[in-house]
Amino acid sequence: MGPDLIEKDDSILESDSITRRLTTVLFGRALLVLDTCTSTNDVALKMALEGAPHGLVVIADEQTEGRGRHGRSWISPKGGIWMTLVLRPPKYRHDLVALPLVGALAIARALRSSVGIRACVRWPNDVVLDDRKLAGVLVETNFSGDDLQFALLGLGVNTNFHASLLAEISEQSTSLLDAVGAPVDGVEVICSLLSELENLYHLIGSDAGADILQILSKIDCSRGRRIRVLLDHQEHIGVLSDYETLTSIRLAIDHESEVIETGSVTSVEYLGAYNTRVRSNSK
Ligand code: BTN
Repeated sequence: MGPDLIEKDDSILESDSITRRLTTVLFGRALLVLDTCTSTNDVALKMALEGAPHGLVVIADEQTEGRGRHGRSWISPKGGIWMTLVLRPPKYRHDLVALPLVGALAIARALRSSVGIRACVRWPNDVVLDDRKLAGVLVETNFSGDDLQFALLGLGVNTNFHASLLAEISEQSTSLLDAVGAPVDGVEVICSLLSELENLYHLIGSDAGADILQILSKIDCSRGRRIRVLLDHQEHIGVLSDYETLTSIRLAIDHESEVIETGSVTSVEYLGAYNTRVRSNSK
């Protein structure tokens, strides 16, 4: 064990109670639960480099150096669900681009079924409740030359802490505790999330990609929103009219529209209030 890891003792999340309630075949069957670590992606990276199997999951109650997308830090206090899944071998390289969206979809579905809240997916990788961020997804990859060795699917869910009391995130984020008003069963959320992930992961890259889009369309809250997208330092403002594929969207700009590949996006900003959606059917 590296010096940055502290073995867990009295955390709320216990590996035995997770294992007892898991319904998956592979995901989470190899499991490490920690009180605290720098980032579960760091721990999973180390373990994957040492040969950890496909489906290994690392979960921590707290991260001291949680990472978000685009080099941002991710506030990860005690009471969150901070987890990383090792995918080995990942599917085709192109499908990796779909992973953040599929991860967000799995989280939103799990929160709906295990907590009963109307969480929805905000392209490209967020789970939100009333436009406040509840969860995010970070995918990191490892190559040997041109060969993809493994992918790390990092998932962060603001769970049993008050995001509303944390100055850094209170304006734009929420948590399950804030939303429900009482602590939720974290083990139930984790087991439900791993089950959703396992089911959806098998569909990526198959003909069933369209099925994922169908599932997504029921709990997506990005379509009809006005967004600013940065692509290679070029700004595009328009209405996200629909998903083209799992890895691209259609952006309506005036009377034209263009397809934006998720893989080339540097940042996305949602403009305007959540309930003032712009109606657009343009393709
Ligand atoms: C984002 O929305 O910017 C992505 C946030 C991803 C956070 C998770 S928490 C578990 C894993 N470990 C990290 O350091 N980051 C991801």
